[in-house]
Amino acid sequence: VNEQGLDAVGIAQLFARPVAVGVAAASMYDQPPFAEEALVVARAVEPRRREFAAGRACARLALAELGFAPAAIAIGPDRAPVWPADAVGSITHCEGFCCAVAARKGAVAGLGIDAEAAEPLEPASLRLVLRAEERAAHAPLPGIAGLDWPKLAFSAKEAFYKAWRPLTGLDLTFQDVAIDFCVDGSFQVRLAPSPTLHTAATPWAFTGRWRLFAGRVCTGVTALPV
Ligand SMILES: CC(C)(COP(=O)(O)OP(=O)(O)OC[C@H]1O[C@@H](n2cnc3c(N)ncnc32)[C@H](O)[C@@H]1OP(=O)(O)O)[C@@H](O)C(=O)NCCC(=O)NCCS
Repeated sequence: VNEQGLDAVGIAQLFARPVAVGVAAASMYDQPPFAEEALVVARAVEPRRREFAAGRACARLALAELGFAPAAIAIGPDRAPVWPADAVGSITHCEGFCCAVAARKGAVAGLGIDAEAAEPLEPASLRLVLRAEERAAHAPLPGIAGLDWPKLAFSAKEAFYKAWRPLTGLDLTFQDVAIDFCVDGSFQVRLAPSPTLHTAATPWAFTGRWRLFAGRVCTGVTALPV
């Protein structure tokens, strides 16, 4: 386990299929991005430039494990990283932690990862982030020191969004999605009946796992063909 408390093995365990993982060491925040990547964050504040650089370095580590040569990873119009044509992946950063995961496209349809400070979700955000049935479902869940189920659900929805958006090109709201937690550390993502999301059943299932580590939560979502 590295100084951040969650290593590549632990991150890979958040996914339903084998994934390649890059975790940022402190030096990777200083690794210069490729020239075309640097242009995108040229006017950003320094902390953003540093987390962006670390995220790109992590993504290249993961891609190298899959056999891809180092190359620029552009930012798409929806802000998603533009992975090589044959790959899917996801990047996350939060205070003191950054990682990326990637896989060959045939192995999985999509990946999403999210890390957040474990502090409880602000009460004002509860109704925005959670559906009523999710709030009810959290009540009987076991109390775990340092874990806030609403914050974990927020992170799970962010991870899901990162897998969903590149696959479908569709935006959705927090209310369009429900997270069903299981006591074994896994969760299922359910598309809820929604006035804003007019999609038929999707050809993918979205499953996830979560970890609590060093004052943070980390969630991983795998999109698999049904
Ligand atoms: C995009 C979003 C999910 C990022 O999450 P975050 O917790 O703010 O930040 P993270 O550090 O975990 O992730 C940021 C990374 O997400 C990735 N990302 C951004 N937009 C993305 C998209 N449309 N699709 C996939 N990945 C995306 C990028 O790699 C970004 O890092 P980079 O700019 O350095 O490359 C979030 O900012 C957002 O827009 N959320 C609202 C969208 C939403 O509807 N969410 C839930 C609905 S169920």
